Amino acid sequence: MADLLRQVAARAQRYLDGLDARLVAPTQEALKQLDLLDEPFPECPTDPAAVIDLLDRVGSPATMATGGGRYFGFVHGGCLPAALAANWLAGAWDQNAALHVTSPIASRLEEVAQRWLTEALDLPEDCEAAFVSGATMANFTALAAARTAMLEGLGWNVEAAGLYGAPPLTVVVSEETHPSVSKALGLLGLGRERVVRVPVDEQGRMRAEAFPELARPAIVCVQAGNVNTGAVDPVGRICELAHASGAWVHVDGAFGLWAKASPRLAGLVEGVERADSWATDAHKWLNVPYDSGLAFVRHADFLPRAMALRAAYIPKGARRDPGQYTPELSRRARGVEIWAALRSLGRAGLADMIDRTCGHARHFADALRAAGCEILNEVVLNQVLVRFGDDETTLRVIDHIQREGTCWCGGTTWQGRTAMRISVTSWATTARDVERSLRCVIQAWRCEAARDVPGDSPVASVGPLLV
Ligand SMILES: Cc1ncc(COP(=O)(O)O)c(C=O)c1O
Repeated sequence: MADLLRQVAARAQRYLDGLDARLVAPTQEALKQLDLLDEPFPECPTDPAAVIDLLDRVGSPATMATGGGRYFGFVHGGCLPAALAANWLAGAWDQNAALHVTSPIASRLEEVAQRWLTEALDLPEDCEAAFVSGATMANFTALAAARTAMLEGLGWNVEAAGLYGAPPLTVVVSEETHPSVSKALGLLGLGRERVVRVPVDEQGRMRAEAFPELARPAIVCVQAGNVNTGAVDPVGRICELAHASGAWVHVDGAFGLWAKASPRLAGLVEGVERADSWATDAHKWLNVPYDSGLAFVRHADFLPRAMALRAAYIPKGARRDPGQYTPELSRRARGVEIWAALRSLGRAGLADMIDRTCGHARHFADALRAAGCEILNEVVLNQVLVRFGDDETTLRVIDHIQREGTCWCGGTTWQGRTAMRISVTSWATTARDVERSLRCVIQAWRCEAARDVPGDSPVASVGPLLV
């Protein structure tokens, strides 16, 4: 075991050291090599060292280099050193974070991390948290608590009786609600489409003046951080309107909620603290390893009411039983990495990481605008939407950038127009990464704009990658 762990540490180190020099996306050759893994189920045991050798030789080159500083796709964080190292140690511990009795350390670290997180994100001290796999499950978990609370207010126990014959619930979302909220609503039996949709403005913010009259019971889903623009709904104003009718307000803050941790940016998400529940991701802007999401619920009782389970063989813990707050019972100890990330960053480090990535995003926008590109959004957080002339050229530029490999950006459609998304979410992105990526993006645009014959284009090199 000792040799194996030493070897794998060396392999991981080599992998991480190589990220700066390699292309962000795997090469065609690396992808072809994946066929080597597609073998018949072995009849006999294999030496674990040989298994890891195969995994590293074939697997490492076929990764997306999301741990480096030049991956700007979707909204992907990297992995902070303390969080990665804690993840390794926790792997060795192999703890089941279901109960205090199955893992006192997991239970205690969740308690501590929950306290630090509510402080850092300026959420109510007494709210309860669930450590789940991502923002989709965090939305599901928080909305389950909302469903319990709203129906209980009408004398309906949804956990016991289900939704058959239940009083109808109104659900309000915006036209720009993330599909994970819709999915959560579907999973909860509330319906993906059985919603009232509030129109949005040009940045994707819910228009408070178009907010509907509500009759109890209702759940209102708002957003802190639009996946394309980074825009934040007017949550404070929506809370006022919704709470006046006794409705529950849920915030999907998968990445935008982290703005609360920065004194410079907290004003953007002002009012978010007045909501009743929140979902966010730790694997995005907190930069812990996948997978890791967080649900917070203000009225602490409703979370365990929705999630708890009892059985004769399951003792009540001396302290918090994490599995009484989450959809899963057995699960990995996600709180370990969250604790390690927060312990290593401290309040100042966390604020700096959020500010720094937003600064890089602003620089991307300024430089691309100066080069003649159109920036479609107000760059309020870490998201930039760039358009290169028309839809077709924009698609070609995105494809060119992805094939050239210096950096990786994805595409989207924003209010009917094709755009490239730049999401700066990794602690590892440096000013040099941004400059290298800018050169590649501008070069790709020039190359595609100059080309009049559509079809497969040769990829322009922006010079040696190691500069
Ligand atoms: C606003 C928003 N909500 C929810 C999600 C889903 O997060 P996850 O993939 O962690 O479930 C995302 C993902 O980017 C998001 O941006």
